[in-house]
This record gives sequence, C-alpha cells and structure tokens, in this order.
Amino acid sequence: MKTVTLGTLRECKRAGETFSCLTAYDASFAHAASQAGIDVLLVGDSLGMVLQGHASTLPVTLADIRYHTRCVARAKGQSLLMVDLPFMSNSSIERLLQDAGELMRMGAELIKVEGEAWMAEGIRELTRRGVPVCAHLGLTPQSVYQFGGYKVQGRETERAEQIVADARALVAAGASVILLECVPASLGKAVRNAVEVPVIGIGAGPDVDGQILVMHDVLGVSAGRSPRFVKNFLKDAADVQDAFRRYHEDVKARRFPAEEHCF
Ligand code: KIV
Repeated sequence: MKTVTLGTLRECKRAGETFSCLTAYDASFAHAASQAGIDVLLVGDSLGMVLQGHASTLPVTLADIRYHTRCVARAKGQSLLMVDLPFMSNSSIERLLQDAGELMRMGAELIKVEGEAWMAEGIRELTRRGVPVCAHLGLTPQSVYQFGGYKVQGRETERAEQIVADARALVAAGASVILLECVPASLGKAVRNAVEVPVIGIGAGPDVDGQILVMHDVLGVSAGRSPRFVKNFLKDAADVQDAFRRYHEDVKARRFPAEEHCF
C-alpha cells in the first residue's frame, strides 16, 4: 500500500474522493487499521474517555499522548499519523511549540489543535517551523464545560457563519487540514466548499473530504449512549480488521455516513 501523506489527502479533495481516518492508541490496533487500508490514524485525546474512563478529555496529559504516540508510531504502516495536543497545550505559544515539537520527534506527521480563530497565531508559528496542523472546529471536546455538554454546534445561522469564518482564518494562518465535529450536514458542506484544504468530518455529514470515528465506536465497545453519528462495523464483520476494512470501504464508497448518522 502506498504511504499516505498530506499530498494524498489534498489529491483526494481535488479528485472529489474521500479518505478514511480512525483513532488508534496502541500498536496492535494501529497495525490492524493500517492493514485494513485506513488512510489516517489519530492518537486522539479521546483516550481519556475510551481508555481511561474519564467523563471528558480534559484530564489527558502530554505524557499520556506521548506514550500512545510512541506505541502507534511503531505500527502505523502506510497510514498518516495525526496526534492531538492535550488540553492547555495551547495556553502559550512557547508551550504549543514545545509540545508539538516533542510529538513530531516521536513520529507525529500532523498535529491536531482545538480552538477557533484566536488559534491563528499559534498555527502560524507552528507551520513556520515545519509542523503541519489540523485545526479542530465545531464541537471541540476540550471546551465541553463551556458548551454545557456534547451538543451539536452551528445549528443557528450566526454560529454557523462563525465556524465558516474561523475555518477560513485558520487556513489563512497555515492550517493544512480542518476537522469538523458534530455540526449539521449543511454546515459540513459549507466549510468543505469554503476552504481549499481537506476537511475531515465526524458527525458533519457526507459532504466533507474525509471521515473519522473513534475506534471503540467502530467496534461497538464504547460505554454509555452512542452519539447519532457512530456505527458499529464489527456487528457484521468476521473480525476486528474486517470491521476496519468495512468502515474504510463504506467511507470510500460514500455509504457512510448515511442519513441516519447526520444532523
Ligand atoms: O480525540 C479524538 O479522538 C478526536 C476525534 C473525536 C476526532 O478528536
């Protein structure tokens, strides 16, 4: 399988094709996902919820992310490795550069940061130094207490326009990818059309360039109530790798997400 780079994702967008992304936290699952053809692996701070059992991603530390990045980097195969910066890594430009630099040295190939237009300066400083950035917009889980829960973002015109403007500002600052979480499908499409860079969606409808899910949701093993946008691919699969392959193929064929997974 060919190595996936940012160029591959850009080419997908240009050609009107989609790409698949999945979270991974250890070597065995990373290997299964890359063998299944998953284009992008994310060491997400969702590990705080699905691995550590916290109610949010806020308790996750840089040490946690470092540990899981090392595990996944050893087995990522041809997949592109995206890594999350944890809560408060963006508390100063110095800390942002330091934390992102450490993760890049451990094998990260794309750094994901949460934050709106105010993150432009940080993104500019990172990209100047050769760090490619994915800017996470919409429902940014590190702000869950500010949002008052895990709620769909951008249902109102003003907030939707703000998210489109933020995406434009962060791309202008140097973001190579936008990740959009839990927004109406119409807003997913509007952001995809507003920026030249690839847009990855999770609960953002079918009209984006790539789709991402949390691995535990794909395998149907997440505790508690599942959000509307997830699908258990293990139910009809022979094994874990087959579940990942089915997810990858459904994304590539635009069978996932279906209408029932959208807002
Ligand atoms: O941390 C994570 O897994 C994420 C995904 C939900 C996109 O940010």
